[in-house]
Amino acid sequence: MIVDFVLTNAKAYWHNRIVDCSIALEDGRIYKIGKETQMPKADEKTNLHNLLVLPGLIDVHVHLRDEGKSYKEDFFTGTAAAAAGGLTTVLDMPNNAPVTMSSETLRNRVQIAARKILVNVGFYSEFPTSLTEIEDIVAQGAAAFKLFMACQVGGLNIDNDQALQDAFAKAGKLNVPVAMHAEDRALLTANEAKLKQAKHNDAAAFLKAHSEEVELKAVERLLKIAAQTSVHLHFCHVTTEQGLNAIAEAKKHGSTVTCEVTPNHLLLSNVDATRGGSMLIMMPPLRSPNHIEALWKGIADGWVDVIGSDHAPHTLDEKSAGSVWDVKVGVPGLETTLPLMLTMVKKNRVSLEQVVHLLAEKPAEIFRLKDRGTLEQGQKADLTVVDFNRKFKIDASKFHSKAKYSPYDGWEVQGKPVKTYVNGLLVMDDGEIVAKPGSGEVIRGDRA
Ligand code: DOR
Ligand code: ZN
Ligand code: ZN
Repeated sequence: MIVDFVLTNAKAYWHNRIVDCSIALEDGRIYKIGKETQMPKADEKTNLHNLLVLPGLIDVHVHLRDEGKSYKEDFFTGTAAAAAGGLTTVLDMPNNAPVTMSSETLRNRVQIAARKILVNVGFYSEFPTSLTEIEDIVAQGAAAFKLFMACQVGGLNIDNDQALQDAFAKAGKLNVPVAMHAEDRALLTANEAKLKQAKHNDAAAFLKAHSEEVELKAVERLLKIAAQTSVHLHFCHVTTEQGLNAIAEAKKHGSTVTCEVTPNHLLLSNVDATRGGSMLIMMPPLRSPNHIEALWKGIADGWVDVIGSDHAPHTLDEKSAGSVWDVKVGVPGLETTLPLMLTMVKKNRVSLEQVVHLLAEKPAEIFRLKDRGTLEQGQKADLTVVDFNRKFKIDASKFHSKAKYSPYDGWEVQGKPVKTYVNGLLVMDDGEIVAKPGSGEVIRGDRA
């Protein structure tokens, strides 16, 4: 047997510890992990010189844009940013132009993506107008549904509890998770109206409108509705202590519910947001230090399941509008998530085990990404190779994303993704993209 290639002198994250080993790859999968002397013959060998090899990392919250929003990001630049950031799989959000919310819009999107992507990409869909179309969307390959509660985006009336329950019931039957942007539309618009009337249009006003209650109200409502069904609810970007507590309580009572936090809400505060002006405007917004502490504690206690970047690229012009109400919300995150989290490992804020759990094992489990999420013989050969000791300064002007700005621009970090293998193919090597557009794989959740 001669395999495609063997990586030697790796320090691999294998069965919750770091082991010195070699890794043989064959036909896009991990063929063997073991001592160099036990490796089969190979067409090619790469000496990793003790670099750390993690299971390919997965970002379940990414806005790749393209189509009508390709001026902000497209499938090539977005997945290049993912590969550069050490991510081998991303899940694409549906608030596109057109909104991904039918089998037709999903089919078109998948077709466009297939020619351009560099990493594995799975797709969210918003719920369709008619629930009978849910099966078609799932058959078309949606990995999950997304429900945006802050305003009406998809076809499902977000103000109607019964409609939500019917949609959840259907998704539950089909074993498809439903991801939530939990901000209560009614309370949020009422808050906004008051602030706009009083001519408050700065960052502080934005934070006030997107209050803690706005998040909690949506979380509580959704948990209550979901409890009537077998749906797996996944809460995106939880930002408040109260929201997280409500989710933890539901978990204690046996609900199939999971949640995610972003590096932004772990590392930046409301003070940064008001100082940073419109640049740090995102939804949900940055919070006060007590919430940041609660999120870190949620990670330590195991209530937080996933770290997602919420990579939300916009043009600099869109980020610089005079009134905060006109600023496009969100910041890019694909190229900063891993270095930031590894830096926090170095600072003992979180362990490497937890980072791998939050960025690989648990995302693969929740979204049923078959044969991914762990380093194991027979798994897909998605590998994130990291120089854990390398210190560097984040330089947003060098991003592969079209959004060349970041709240972390200039931050000193430690831990750099240096090689990204996707299905056995080297896609990123020392910051350079070395694979062709279209070499990534369109993936779907495992519905079995
Ligand atoms: O900050 C955000 N940006 N929050 C969202 O919910 C949407 C996202 C975007 O698409 O830009
Ligand atoms: Zn969101
Ligand atoms: Zn988002």
